[in-house]
Amino acid sequence: MQRVKIAILGIGNVGTGVWKILTMNKEQVSARSGYDIEVAKVLVRDKKKKRNVEVPEEVLTDSFDDIINDDSIKIVVELMGGVDPAKNYMLKAIKSGKHVVTANKFALATCGKELAEAAEEFGVKLNYEASVAGGIPIIHGITESLTANKILNIVGIINGTTNYILTKMTLNGMEFEDALKEAQQKGYAEADPTSDVEGYDAMYKIGILSSLSFGGYIDVDSIYREGITSINSIDIEYAKEFGYVIKLLAIAKQNDGLVELRVHPAMIPATHPLANVNDSFNAIFIKGNAVGDLMLYGRGAGDLPTGSAVVGDIIAILKNGLDKNVERNTFASCPLRIKDMEDTRCEYYIRVTASDTPGTLGAISNVFGGNGVSLASVIQKGKGDVNVPLVFVTHETLEKNINKSIKEIKAMESVVSVDNLIRVENI
Ligand code: NAP
Ligand code: HSE
Repeated sequence: MQRVKIAILGIGNVGTGVWKILTMNKEQVSARSGYDIEVAKVLVRDKKKKRNVEVPEEVLTDSFDDIINDDSIKIVVELMGGVDPAKNYMLKAIKSGKHVVTANKFALATCGKELAEAAEEFGVKLNYEASVAGGIPIIHGITESLTANKILNIVGIINGTTNYILTKMTLNGMEFEDALKEAQQKGYAEADPTSDVEGYDAMYKIGILSSLSFGGYIDVDSIYREGITSINSIDIEYAKEFGYVIKLLAIAKQNDGLVELRVHPAMIPATHPLANVNDSFNAIFIKGNAVGDLMLYGRGAGDLPTGSAVVGDIIAILKNGLDKNVERNTFASCPLRIKDMEDTRCEYYIRVTASDTPGTLGAISNVFGGNGVSLASVIQKGKGDVNVPLVFVTHETLEKNINKSIKEIKAMESVVSVDNLIRVENI
């Protein structure tokens, strides 16, 4: 058996998972890759920190130079997170002829094209299966198994942390902050969980998937994004009353040369398979013009599920022979045209607090009607109170019609506040 040296940059949640898999499945990994893998170096910030796995002292380093200057290291596995210095370390590794495996969606969504072009130029592999949906083989699914298709749309739950939080809030009545703490303890959340709860992580992931699926470059900042911090128990209860469940969805649709891209919480029918995707599980629906509908389901975060994708990427490189990899750049260079969010169509749930006076409900309904928004249902609760919650669910309409209506409703004297707006996806 030939021996190959690799280096791991970062041994936090995912790095630990990779280390465990390389240890517990050592024989199988060797048999499948054709190599006996030696982790020669592990880069960390703090060499003294207590680790969840036993990394020999001589393997730990806090200097990337120890890795980049070692010609015997053939694969660099980047599991640090963030763009800086992760992107530069990956570029340096590529330019030194080392293959790169990464789980870093932030770096890929913002610099994937540059990294992929460099990998192509220097004839090395850049594998990133773990960057989207943890253990689910979605990247290889799109770049290999589904290449015969024109991908029409992608709808998915692709952030484990927010799905864990929403599940705990919905099924266990847990508070947002407590559920987030649990997700962090379980190793699902990003180092800065703002990325999860404000929808950035899902935005990077749908950016990567869209770029690969629709064959164009995407400026991720142009993706419409909302997180789950505005979701509270009142909305979850109303959703239940209407027969819905609230999930953070990532949506990409290709139509007439434009790509509709959005990440936001949505009410989906409680009977839909996505409504039963709970905890840290992810699921992705893809529609291809040949394959039709496809659903992939699995653990979207955590040490072993993510480690499974990373080690799979390492084996894929070794299986093909270390010197024979000519990477074809999968990140296309022409930009995709993104549809203006104002021109997208949806159904909407809108929760308002208004004074319980004659004519208020009718006046609000008139604003909707005046802007071409047709109402599907209205609920008023809290009889006898001065101010009462009013909940409206609309039929499908343009986002711009809703925005105009909300602006006018907010200005009404009888309206105290527009408390929430959640899109309803009758998928
Ligand atoms: P983490 O637990 O925060 O671990 C990060 C590791 O990188 C730590 O060992 C840290 O060293 C090291 N590190 C960070 N910055 C460094 C620097 N400048 N120099 C040297 N070492 C540095 O992160 P994680 O959850 O494992 O995530 C790693 C990557 O995988 C991220 O890109 C993340 O988005 C992605 N990912 C995570 C999951 C998941 O379930 N967690 C799933 C899919 C993808 P110290 O330990 O010394 O601080
Ligand atoms: N923080 C990410 C999540 C990790 O919760 O989905 C997996 O990419």
